[in-house]
Amino acid sequence: MNFQTERLGPHMAAAVSGIDLNRLPDAPTQAALTRVLHDNLVLCIRGQALAPVPFRDAMAQFGVPVLRKQLAQTPECAEVNIISSEDRDVLGDGKRLVNGANWHTDDSFMREPCSLTMLYGVVVPSVGGDTQFTNMYAAYADLSSEMKARIDGMQVIHKYSSSRKLSRISTRPAAEMAAMPEATHPLVRTHPETGRKSLYLNPNRMEQVVGLDRAESDRLLDMLIAHATQPRYEYRHSWRQGDIVIWDNRCTMHKANADYPDGERRLMHRVIVAGTAPY
Ligand code: OGA
Ligand code: MN
Repeated sequence: MNFQTERLGPHMAAAVSGIDLNRLPDAPTQAALTRVLHDNLVLCIRGQALAPVPFRDAMAQFGVPVLRKQLAQTPECAEVNIISSEDRDVLGDGKRLVNGANWHTDDSFMREPCSLTMLYGVVVPSVGGDTQFTNMYAAYADLSSEMKARIDGMQVIHKYSSSRKLSRISTRPAAEMAAMPEATHPLVRTHPETGRKSLYLNPNRMEQVVGLDRAESDRLLDMLIAHATQPRYEYRHSWRQGDIVIWDNRCTMHKANADYPDGERRLMHRVIVAGTAPY
């Protein structure tokens, strides 16, 4: 293919360069990019300079972009959201808000969570602001056969504002909170395209394992979270301006870091694409 691929982490993540997404890739190139993503779970496309509409159009080659009205939208393109160091809890205490500061997978409180998230580094800090990823195929594969037998087939209730949540989340209007969906998802899911099994955890949104009492559910979830977030399953992305990082929410978790110096900006454009109900 007419791009170069570089392995980023020892067990996940690859970067491609030599592509300008202002021109949409031809079908074989697009298929090759999707393959790199499926094989590596996290795909970084280097060196982009994209306005919101061409960014959305390029991401639409990977799936169907979904509107996300809860996050700020670019004026040019409603499907492109803004994640910024200037985000504040405007309806609440007005304080700084860091989206995704704890390990999570995107939108698991929905019945059909997004499959992929694309983040485009428009302005990146000179130091810090990394995004961490963890490989949920590997975390599942390393469980004992006894543990696999125990958890295969278990279902978990996910809620937007779960009682186990770790993060401060933005204050939403009461009517919007009341209308917020919740969903029940398998604890072990099968990726619809690769056929591989992964742990499906979302520490911020999981409420309880169906059929277990609260204490037993908490013990199991805490143990699996501690297992899956060990450094050996991790890839940590240090951003370059112009990177687009695409991750697969079906087989990874991720986490933002707001550790860059005060006064430095971090501005990301974000697109998510539709997924199907996990099974
Ligand atoms: C997200 C997210 C992480 C980051 O956009 O879903 O979690 O590093 N972002 O900004
Ligand atoms: Mn996220």
